[in-house]
Amino acid sequence: MSRSLKLLLMAVITTAIIVVPGAVALWAFPPHFGGWLGVAYWTGLTLVTQAFPVRMPRGTVVSVAIAPILAAAAIGGPAAAGVVAMLGVTEWRELRGRVPWYGTLYNHAESAIPAVIASLTYLAVAGQAFTPGWVSLIGVGLAGVLYFATNALLAWLVLILRDHQSLSMILAGDYRLISGNLLGMTPLAWLIAVVWSVAWWAVPLFALPLYANRAAYQATVQVRDMFTQTVRALASAVDARDPFTARHSENVQQIAVDIGRVMRCSEAELEALEWGGLLHDIGKIGVRDDVLLKQDKLTREERIAMNAHPVLGEEIIKPVTRLAPELPIIRHHHEWYNGSGYPDHLVGEEIPKLARILHVADAFEAMTAKRPYRMRPLSREQALAELRKYAGIQFDPVVLDAFARTDWVAGVPDPGKPASRAAPVRPVAAFAGAAHGAGQTGDQPAADAR
Ligand SMILES: [Fe+2]
Repeated sequence: MSRSLKLLLMAVITTAIIVVPGAVALWAFPPHFGGWLGVAYWTGLTLVTQAFPVRMPRGTVVSVAIAPILAAAAIGGPAAAGVVAMLGVTEWRELRGRVPWYGTLYNHAESAIPAVIASLTYLAVAGQAFTPGWVSLIGVGLAGVLYFATNALLAWLVLILRDHQSLSMILAGDYRLISGNLLGMTPLAWLIAVVWSVAWWAVPLFALPLYANRAAYQATVQVRDMFTQTVRALASAVDARDPFTARHSENVQQIAVDIGRVMRCSEAELEALEWGGLLHDIGKIGVRDDVLLKQDKLTREERIAMNAHPVLGEEIIKPVTRLAPELPIIRHHHEWYNGSGYPDHLVGEEIPKLARILHVADAFEAMTAKRPYRMRPLSREQALAELRKYAGIQFDPVVLDAFARTDWVAGVPDPGKPASRAAPVRPVAAFAGAAHGAGQTGDQPAADAR
């Protein structure tokens, strides 16, 4: 654990240890709240809603417990809010010891501090006694915004310090998906408080709409999982045709996503790399077995058939509208930085960034895996040296720098950037028409993936 993460955990946990007992000491429960019995009632409700969390694609756990916490914050004041949020977010996995103690404490502090802040916001706007009306609705709305903002900030700080995720990455990911829903839950919290003020025993009936909300989250996650599994199955269908390329697509996907992380790609770009990595060679489905599985060097005709796979792949995937961002990756993953690749002989930055990333990942995987046309796989050191040798020719030097910082080549001696090469310009691409094919036949570098 890094020093900055340790400091964050200590600061937030200590703040919660001061804030919650402080709130209990400073603010008495309102007379109508029912004292500690009321606290037990709202804690129980929160525990029930917390018991069914949903795991989002990037690992964030979402629960709908914010609704009863906010209702308790409006009805019971800061003391009730702090205690209910602190105890109510307890999870089974914590009780079973699956979360380290400091993680457990942080999770509870991450809810308790925002709950006290939300309750103070409500107090400032609507006063202590909860009465149904516009003022209390605005009060709960503002309290919800403050709760969500503080809670999200504390969660993001951990992601930034622990997982080195950038804020833009987080904002583009799960949070965009869930923030709208969570903010939509504040009117529900107000409604729960209104029902409580009329008939406290009727509040558990809200379990039904809350459960429906959770089911909607779950369905979104399940559909995405199903889609990813289908894409993975398609990719392994390609890999399975050739025993030498087993797991190639999955490895390329992992390397490409890791390079993307170092290059601080957005969450949407990482997702494109994930699926694009799996599907980049899907066009090989249309390449004849005698060409695809040939152990010897390919003839000119066979090479042409093989080199058609990026375009073929694009055509196969085009009808799937959800995979539109992956199309440029599939089409251009064999373009060379100097314009002598295929199919469109794009030069430098003309090649889509994600395709340049995939090209490096593809080449590294191909070089370090066993292939029929090469006796022995290269070591990671040899492969990195080969990639560096072709910086500015075949590969984008910026992408190579990023790759050199991934765990795939951690501790491997890096020859570094070669002597500076002029940035590729259009005339090179014009030349590429004649050069096309040279790179893929006689002087094929080790760094070329088929
Ligand atoms: Fe390919």
